Amino acid sequence: MRNLFIVANWKENKTKEEAKEWMREFHKVYQKRDNVTVIICPSFLSLPTVSDYALSNDLGVEVGAQNISVFNTGAHTGEVSASQVAELARYVIVGHSERRKNGETDEQVSEKINNAILCVQNQNIQVPDGAKIVAYEPIEAIGTGNPDTPENAEKIAKEIKMKNSWVESVLYGGSVTSQNVSTFTNMEEISGVLVGGASLNPNEFSEIIKNA
Ligand code: PGA
Repeated sequence: MRNLFIVANWKENKTKEEAKEWMREFHKVYQKRDNVTVIICPSFLSLPTVSDYALSNDLGVEVGAQNISVFNTGAHTGEVSASQVAELARYVIVGHSERRKNGETDEQVSEKINNAILCVQNQNIQVPDGAKIVAYEPIEAIGTGNPDTPENAEKIAKEIKMKNSWVESVLYGGSVTSQNVSTFTNMEEISGVLVGGASLNPNEFSEIIKNA
């Protein structure tokens, strides 16, 4: 069976208390699937809450951050380093369009690439050597309720893999819901989904995992 990644990107949502509440609700409805890696990406501040809950309840999900510093540990006020994140999370999202819009460059993205879920907005964005998981997220599809067509996402996934032989998995992101998830995951070249809005509700997110 094909392996899939289903990623919840909570963005700048949820306090620690709300994150815990989401985990409790999700725990009630989540049905683990052998071929699916579920990755929950809360804010930095909720990483311990989500990671502790997942570990102590043996929930069977991975935890991811939404960013890391380009710098190694040191005198960099306000930054969070990869080694700090690694204590709590095995994955990190980098290069999201919502960060590139605020000035994140290709060079900065390449510094962050180890173990990252690299977001690209089209097939022409640079994919640094070593990036294994890429999420194709067309800007027009993010948070709009207008996802790309599965056929186009498939075409772009194929192109990304052809251009960058080191890429192992291409995910699709942009207005994914429990209703449309399988149209993407049924595509041969698409190995999962990155979910924003619809991941904020634990029941909807567990439906997405079920239907993928
Ligand atoms: P969306 O966001 O699912 O709310 O469209 C996806 C993302 O930005 O990663």
